[in-house]
Formats: sequence, C-alpha cells, structure tokens
Amino acid sequence: MRTIIKNIKELCQVEEAPRQKVCGSEMAAMQTIKDAYLIIEDDKILDFGGMSALKEQTFDHEVNAEGRMVFPSFCDSHTHLVYAGSREVEYIDKIRGLSYEEIARRGGGILNSAKRVQDASEEELYDDAMMRLQQMIGYGSGAVEIKSGYGMTVEAEMKMLRVIRRLRETSPLTIRATLLGAHGVPMEYRGRQDAFVDLVVREMIPQAAAEGLADFVDVFCDEGFFTVGDTERMLEAGAKYGLRAKIHANELACSGGIQVAVKYDALSCDHLEYTGEAEIECLKGSNTMPTVLPGAAFFLNMRHAPVRQMIDAGLPVAMASDCNPGSSPSPNMQLILSMACVNYRMLPEEAFNATTINSAYAMGVSDQLGSIARGKRANFYITKPISTYEYMPYAYGENKVDVAFLNGRVC
Ligand code: NIG
Ligand code: FE
Repeated sequence: MRTIIKNIKELCQVEEAPRQKVCGSEMAAMQTIKDAYLIIEDDKILDFGGMSALKEQTFDHEVNAEGRMVFPSFCDSHTHLVYAGSREVEYIDKIRGLSYEEIARRGGGILNSAKRVQDASEEELYDDAMMRLQQMIGYGSGAVEIKSGYGMTVEAEMKMLRVIRRLRETSPLTIRATLLGAHGVPMEYRGRQDAFVDLVVREMIPQAAAEGLADFVDVFCDEGFFTVGDTERMLEAGAKYGLRAKIHANELACSGGIQVAVKYDALSCDHLEYTGEAEIECLKGSNTMPTVLPGAAFFLNMRHAPVRQMIDAGLPVAMASDCNPGSSPSPNMQLILSMACVNYRMLPEEAFNATTINSAYAMGVSDQLGSIARGKRANFYITKPISTYEYMPYAYGENKVDVAFLNGRVC
C-alpha cells in the first residue's frame, strides 16, 4: 500500500545518506525540504523530495499536510515506563527540602516503587504502561526503551520484563527492553550489597537472557548506589550473555560510571550531571552515547550536565525523557526539546538531533529510525499548523503533534 503526504510545509530531519549518529558541530545542522512530499510503502519510507519534483503516479492514500510540518518520531532511549502508582508524597518531601538520597535511605524512592510493583499483577502493570505508551505516541514518540528495576527480586524483575515483552508484541511503538537488576539495594540486603550483586549476576542476568527478555543490561552506578566494582561484575555477566550495557552514571557524583561504561563499550551512559574534563576525554572516540535526561534534572532541581562542553569537544549527545514515577513523571519528549534549548543552551537543531537520531543510536535502532531516510521505518508525525520548526521547542507545554504515523499507519 502506498501513501503520499503532500504539500508538507517543511519536511524535517531528512537524510540522503543515513548516519548512525551526529557528533559535535554537526549537531547544529538539520536538513529540511520546504514544500515537500513524503511517500511511504507499507511500513517503510519509500521516497521524499520537493513538490515541484513529484512525478505523476497513483497512490492508495493521499494526505494533504498544507501548513504543517513532518518530523521523524522521537526516540525515547531511557524510560522506566512500567511502574505502579505514583509518588507525589515524596515530591512534597523534596519541596520541603529532603534530598533524593535522603528519601532513598528512608526506604522511599526506588524501594517505594519496588514494593508496589511486587504487589501488582502483570495485568495491572501492562494496562498502566500501555496507557502511558498511548500518551507517548500522542506526543510524537515512535520508539522507546523500557527498563525493569522496580522488581528487586528475581521474580518481580522477570515479571516486569514479561510485561515489557507483551507491550512490545502489542504496541505499534518500537520497544527495546533493559534489565536493570541493580537499581537499588533492597532493605534485606543492606550491609551485604555483594550478595545482592551475586543475585543479579547468578540469577537475574542468566534468567532474563535464557528467556530472551532483555536486549540490554543497566546498573545505577553512582554514589550511595552501586560501585564501579559492582558495575564491572554485572556488565561482565551481561556481556557473557550477549547483553550490551546502557548504564545510569554520574547523576549524583563523579562516580567513575562514565569510565566504566566506556571500558565495557556500553551503548550509552545516561544522566551525566557530574561530568568533568576527564569524563569528556574518556568519551571521545568511544562508541558510548552520552545521554542527558533533562526531565530528571528539572524535576529534582539538580545541576545540569555540561552539554555545551560535550558538544564543543566533538561528542554526540542524546536526550530522553527518563519517564518514571520518582524523578521524571512525564512521557512528553516535546518538553525535553524545550528543556534542551532553555536549560542546556542547545540550538533547536541540536535538540532535534539529540532526541531523534542520537537517541535512536542510544537504543540501538538508528539504522531503522531517527530520521526521514529511504528504507527506514515510517515512524513520523504531522504537526498542527506551525510557523517554523523552531516553534516546536519554543511553544513549550502545548502539544504540537496532530497525527502520528507508526509503521506507516495512523495511530
Ligand atoms: O533514572 N536514577 C535512577 N533511577 C531513576 C529514578 C527512579 C526513581 O526515582 O524511581 C532515574 O532517574
Ligand atoms: Fe533512569
């Protein structure tokens, strides 16, 4: 089936020669075509170009996008989308002055969500997550990485991963699954963290791999959570089972997380509020995508990762929502675009690159997604009538997406 979207005011993030990722000063450029058409065949992008070059041909469907723009869907490469309940009580604690670490030490935070996930049925977790996925589609996302990590027991972690598998089978979004066995240390393992790492290494990773439930392995490598030594053990175990690393690093301190990510050839290292020159140097020339999560820094009112220095040093940068009940309860990637520009002083073009092609790389899908390129999956959205593409980050808080296409179909 062939569909044409015609009279597109501006077709954005177009690639004639698809790239895996965009680095340094190249991030400030985004190719667009004004007064464009986009042709899709079944679930793939077949062709695109200027309306004046469109050859006479017939289509099964025609969409007139006059006055509206088309963008490739956002790729949200870091989320904790499967969770039960919400945590606004801790939100108030934070307003009253408690830190993220203090809340965690009292058994709140991640442990609070773990208790609720352990008590929830697979069905409940699936229904809630599916609703969030629908919201994400409405805000323009087309791919999402989802982590476990609120299970904390072998059984509950596998339950979360099975929910993610079911979401993957039933949602039109492209989904990747990450085992985050080491997200926090359960109360019963306090004082013997090694034994919990043993559990992750000897049971969680082998079981997730045996059932084909995970694409990646993650560790919260940070002060007060897991050490570099713990992380190395878990990444080695993951590698043995073919699970590439994507890790939480340097959110709370210069934890060595970035160095360990690069050492193990992690696909991404995420958060990065505490990134200095040594970390930037270490990331240069690596395959690891530095990924910043502006929603978490905003919500926890934290310092900002030094994105300008990273880009100026020639690094690529990706951005994702980190959607989760504790530090970033929003699935809206359009807000991430706005935060990228306002809080990190990124140009709109840099923000689009960070949330499309580079975040596609950070979840291992940039050969299929993250730009408008021939042969790529037809995941894109048509905006409401807007003046310029810069209006996307500028008009924060309003939903600029009119129609989302995933796999070539309206969703
Ligand atoms: O990415 N930093 C660690 N993990 C999550 C927060 C999870 C939570 O607070 O529930 C994050 O921000
Ligand atoms: Fe996270």
